Parts: sequence; C-alpha cells; structure tokens
Amino acid sequence: MHTFESVLVTGAAGFIGSNLSEALLARGHRVVGLDNLSRGSLANLREIMDHAAFRFVEGDVEDLRVVWDAVRGCSVVVHLAAYKIPRYGGRIDTLRINQCGSANVLEAVREVGARFVLASTSDVYGNSPHVPFREDAPLVLGTSASARWSYAVSKLFDEHLAFAYHEAHGVRSTIIRIFGSYGPNQHLSWWGGPQSVFISAVLRDEPVDIHGDGLQTRSFCYISDLVRGLVAAVERVPDGCDVINLGNDREITILELARMVKRLSGTPGELKLRMVPYTAFKGKYEDVRRRVPDLAKAASLLGYHPVVSLEEGLRRTIAWQRERMTTEGARSFFPSERLLDPPGQPPETRDQRNPPPPAVQRRQAGRRSNGHEVHGGHEVVGREVVDEA
Ligand SMILES: NC(=O)c1ccc[n+]([C@@H]2O[C@H](COP(=O)([O-])OP(=O)(O)OC[C@H]3O[C@@H](n4cnc5c(N)ncnc54)[C@H](O)[C@@H]3O)[C@@H](O)[C@H]2O)c1
Repeated sequence: MHTFESVLVTGAAGFIGSNLSEALLARGHRVVGLDNLSRGSLANLREIMDHAAFRFVEGDVEDLRVVWDAVRGCSVVVHLAAYKIPRYGGRIDTLRINQCGSANVLEAVREVGARFVLASTSDVYGNSPHVPFREDAPLVLGTSASARWSYAVSKLFDEHLAFAYHEAHGVRSTIIRIFGSYGPNQHLSWWGGPQSVFISAVLRDEPVDIHGDGLQTRSFCYISDLVRGLVAAVERVPDGCDVINLGNDREITILELARMVKRLSGTPGELKLRMVPYTAFKGKYEDVRRRVPDLAKAASLLGYHPVVSLEEGLRRTIAWQRERMTTEGARSFFPSERLLDPPGQPPETRDQRNPPPPAVQRRQAGRRSNGHEVHGGHEVVGREVVDEA
C-alpha cells in the first residue's frame, strides 16, 4: 500500500496534467492543480473539478507568491507547466517561462521540504546518434541560430536546476524525460504533436502535412502508460536526484504513422499527403532524425512497461478526437486555435492574442505570400511552424 500524498501538479489543465491529476485522485492522493489556462482548459478538468480531494488554483508559475500559496501542505510537486515548442515568436516565452517557472517551483519545493518531479523532454537528446537514448548518453544539440533548440535548452536548464537544488539544499528530485505522448485531451494542433494533426486531417479528408521526407522516426506513448509511469515516480521519488526516460520504444516513421492513422480511421478514399520541405520553415529549422527511448532504467526504478499498442492507442484517440470534432465543430477546445492551420500560414494561437511587434508581423506577412507549389507528385507548401516533439 502506498502512502497517500498531497501532490501539487503545475500545468494541471493541460494534456498530461489533466490525465495525471485524474489518475492521482483515483489512487487516493490529494491534488492541487495549478494552471494559468494559457494552453490548458477547464474542460479537461470537468471530471474532477468537484472531487473532494481536488483543488484548482488559477495562477501563473512565474508568480512566486502564487506558487507558494499552491504548494502549502504538499509533499510532492509534479512540475508540468511549460511553454513547449518554440514556434513563431515563441523563443522568448519558451526560455522565460521554463526558466522562471522552474526556479519558482523549486524554491517553493525547498521551502516546504517537498519532493520534486520535473517534466523534461526527449528533445534534450537532440541529434544524438546513440539510439535508443539512454539517460547517461551524450546530448547533441544544434546551433543556437535554430530556434527549435531553445526548448531543449530551457528543459536542460531545468534539469541542472533540479541537480543544483539537490546539491545545495538536499531536494529529492526525479527528472522525467517524456517522449511524445498522445491520447484524450491532447491539443488538436501541432502543439499536440503529429498524431493529433494527422487524425484531424484524415477525419476531415484533408491532406496530411509531412515535414521533410517523412522518414524521420518517432516513438509514441499512449497517455495511460505515461501517466502510470508518472504516478510511480510520485510514489517512489528516491533519495538523490535522477533522470528517467518515459515513453514507448516502438519506432515508427512519420510516413508510417500517417498511413496507420488513415487505416485505423476507417475513412473512405485514399490518404492525401502534402510534403512540406524544411526549407519552407522559418529560420534555420533542424529536425531530429530518430527519437527512441531506452526504457531499462524506467523498468528497474519505476516498474514501468508501456502496455498499450500504437494501434490500440490510436484507435482510442481517433474515437476521442472524432467525438471532440463532432461536438466542437472546426474549433479545438483551445479557444483561439483552429484545428488545422491554413497552409502557408502560422497557427492562430497565443501569438494572435499577443501580436508580435510590427517588424515581425511584416516578416510573417512576406512568408504568407509564398503560396503553394506542386513538387514530386505531392503538394508542397511553405509553413511557419513545425515540430514533432
Ligand atoms: N506531451 C508530450 O508528448 C510531451 C513530451 C515531452 C515533454 N513534455 C512536457 O510535459 C509537460 C506537459 O506537457 P503537455 O503536453 O501536457 O502540455 P500542455 O500545453 O497541454 O500543458 C501545459 C500546461 O501548462 C500551463 N501553463 C503554461 N505556462 C504556464 C504558466 N506560466 N503558469 C501556469 N501554467 C502554465 C498551460 O496552460 C497548460 O495547461 C511540459 O512540461 C512539456 O514540456 C510533454
């Protein structure tokens, strides 16, 4: 029997946070959910909002007083709140929120003597040739001129901060390097990863955007598997500070993923592909060729073994997404984000609510006028946004 903990989950209204909060409550833990609702939604929390052991705090991890209030009485903190993907105008947010938020949360963790679970990312392995990635493998990031690496760098900063707080203050931490996860409550845009936009495209009989040649590989983890690993991390934060991969180690190319989504969706007609060359992306875009976790450490320290096959997980996710699209039409639950961005345009996201400076807007407008061309039998488009985190 495990000890019942009081757990602060930052980013609780997001994809992973909402699923994790539900699972922690089901295990008998008390949960305080903190979120500023910038990317998450209260709709994700509707099943647990009235749960007697759940308290929701709307607030920002960049505000130390908010974090202090939320952490009071908590024995474990799972820090998920982050700005995930440096996209158009996003590098500043990524670096600031992920650095400042983690610094505040760790300070509060130290103050109350809690244990710390940090959501890091597989992106920190970058272009490491040592596939599958082990936690002690060298990390190989690209040039600082490529905005995409700012996400990995921000998360590496967080990892180092966790080690520093252990060295300086004895804070016990588990750093979880999360590999691409999917399932109910995922964002219906590139923010939610390729599986999310592929499903939307297939269900709407629209072309699936394939970045580069589509032969880059990823591994996809169904959310219930990831959540079981995170719950184990909450219940077993060891002495010290350690890094553990969580994900699924089945490797698949992005092209194969698109074909699988099409097959499992049961929609009529052929799969439509739209090849998007990397040269169409803003800045010096660099993709990661292969991304697969070594899960031996997760198995030995957390008893972790993913059990949901990609086919089964996608079937469940397609059913959820179909239902979500039926009930919410063409809009995702993230109010100002369209299901699919029109080709050649950046997504309508937070950047539209906080428009970038005029000079940046002018650059964006220039790229929008790129239009489309046809290449190699597939439509080829220019886009602003890409990532397969
Ligand atoms: N989803 C994945 O496959 C994946 C992969 C690798 C790492 N991760 C990491 O896991 C964590 C959760 O990811 P997710 O997919 O659930 O993302 P998400 O965007 O769905 O959830 C993040 C939540 O944090 C909230 N948030 C953002 N900035 C905040 C702030 N300043 N103050 C308070 N709340 C704030 C958002 O509103 C959102 O609800 C992130 O740290 C992410 O980097 C996720």
